[in-house]
This record gives sequence, structure tokens and C-alpha cells, in this order.
Amino acid sequence: MYYPTFRARRIRGKEVFRRMVRETSLSANDLIYPMFSAFGKGIRKEISSMPGIYQQSIENIVAEAQEVYELGVPAVILFGIPESKDAVGSDAYSDSGIIQETIRALKKDVPGLAVITDVCMCEYTDHGHCGIIRDGDVDNDATLELLAREALSHAQAGADMVAPSDMMDGRVAAIRDILDENGYENIPLMSYAVKYASGYYGPFREAAESTPQFGDRRSYQMDPANRLEGLREARMDMEEGADILMVKPGLPYLDIIRDLRNEFDLPIAAYNVSGEYSMIKAAARNGWIDEDRVIMETMLSFKRAGADIILTYHAKEVAMLLKSGNF
Ligand code: PBG
Ligand code: ZN
Repeated sequence: MYYPTFRARRIRGKEVFRRMVRETSLSANDLIYPMFSAFGKGIRKEISSMPGIYQQSIENIVAEAQEVYELGVPAVILFGIPESKDAVGSDAYSDSGIIQETIRALKKDVPGLAVITDVCMCEYTDHGHCGIIRDGDVDNDATLELLAREALSHAQAGADMVAPSDMMDGRVAAIRDILDENGYENIPLMSYAVKYASGYYGPFREAAESTPQFGDRRSYQMDPANRLEGLREARMDMEEGADILMVKPGLPYLDIIRDLRNEFDLPIAAYNVSGEYSMIKAAARNGWIDEDRVIMETMLSFKRAGADIILTYHAKEVAMLLKSGNF
């Protein structure tokens, strides 16, 4: 196919043909909206680094979730800011924990909306690490039992899907086992399978108040330089029973999303994380980029890389832009 026999521009000249040959599409069905549920009443506090995203108490979470549902976004993923934290993250697996109460409120008032829960310890431990500490490091095997209890407790409260983000080895199997033993064999598990130790989580840690009080997460999250290791992580989680494999962060790891798409036949999710959101918001506020266009281009990049599902703080904006008919 050479010029002048072939002219690439012929098919680009009219919108009707551009639409006809478009290879990738985006729908509100692809989106999951993250929400931060805070203990208390009447709370609606904007995250300074994430304009438009709030820590909210349950009644405000329910009100926004209703809006999310009406926009056609099928699911939310919940993060909790508990009343109090301790060394073993007790609120995470308490029947009256912040997430358990939020799940019950959402399933009662917005029953059509799927409620997914983030399963991790860092929002509930006073030291801010994703598991329990022994000899100055996170103890993998001792943490598994707590994560399993947390996931079970979420399922018992009515969660539709659980999503472990802790990066302990063996946690997918531990969670799958306890769910199955307790009659929750049909609750799907979305694994944060390929999760890098990333600077892009900075704004989230303000939102979830989960900054580690000592050290960092490099002993359990992945090295950003590694690609093959991502395939090993994903394979391990698939074999342990994960139903959906997630890559996180999203934009800096599009190659990894494509690797997983080529290698596995499970649904793939991309987490467009807090720092990615903040960068777009900051540039847009300065008038440096066309925000709507950049948001939609970013979403398409995940789909093009091979993601089926996108977790994004832009979910409501994307649903509105899709409805506007301009994209
Ligand atoms: C908890 C968790 C984190 C995110 C999702 N779940 C933070 C972390 O691992 O430090 C990050 C999400 C975001 O940045 O938007 N383990
Ligand atoms: Zn964590």
C-alpha cells in the first residue's frame, strides 16, 4: 500500500467514515468510580490535590452514588477513613466498620449500583502500611488472615465484588478460600495484580489518610522498571482464582496493560490513579490543556492498550461527556 495508489487521508475526510472505521470505543459501562467514605456525619471535604473528589460521610456518599448511577456508571469502588486506626487495622474487618456501614447504606438506597470494595490494611492501620508489621517490615503470611477476614466481612455486608490491593503473596487464594467456605463462591474478585510502587499515589494518600508513617511500600509493591515480573504477578493471581486482573497505575504502564491483554483471556482493568487525575486537573486549571479532550483521549488510551474496565476519578465527567454527544 503505497502513495499515490493508497491515500490514508481518504477515510479521514468525513466524520461519518471516521466513525465507521473507529477501532476503539468507550462506554459508561466500562467505568468504576472510586469514593472515599469517612466516619461521621455531614462531612463533605474536598481533597485539595484532587478537585471535585471528596471525603464524605455515608449520607453524602449515598447521594453522590445516586448521581453516579443515574449517569449510567455501573459501579463504585469504596475506600474507608475509619473513626480510629490501630496496629492491626481492626476497623477493616469489623462488622460495624466504616466500609461495612457504607456498603449496607448503598445497597439499601442505590440497589442497582454495584459496590466493589478495596481490600487492604493501609487505610486502617496507624502505621499506614498495607499489612501488619513484624521486625520493621510487613509480615506477608500473618497479613493474609486479616485480608481474608476483611473481604469476608465486606461480602457479608453486601459487597458485590472485592478488590485486594495490598500486594501480599497468596492473598487471592486466601480470599477466594474464605469466601467459598462461607457461601460467597459467586462473589467475583478483581485483583490489583500488577501494582507498582508509584509516586502517582500521592494525592490518594491525602484522600485516604494512608501515608506510611515509616519507610515506603517498595518491599511489597512492584519496581517500575519491571515488565516480565508483571506477567508473573498476573499469572499467579489468575491461578489463585482472580476474575479480573488490574494494572495500576494506568497511563505510565500502558505497555503492561497490553502485555496482559496479549497473554491472558481474563478481563483487564486499568486504574487511572489519583496523581494522573491531579495532573490533568492542574494543567486544565492553568488553561494549558483542553480538559475534556485530554480526559477522553486518556480513557481511549486505556481501551486501545487492551483494558476492558477503567477505574477513574473522571468517571462522572466521562459519562457526561459521552452523553453530550461531542465525543
Ligand atoms: C491501597 C490503595 C492505594 C491506591 C488504591 N488502593 C494506595 C497505595 O497503595 O499506596 C491508590 C489509588 C490512587 O492513587 O488513586 N493499597
Ligand atoms: Zn494498602
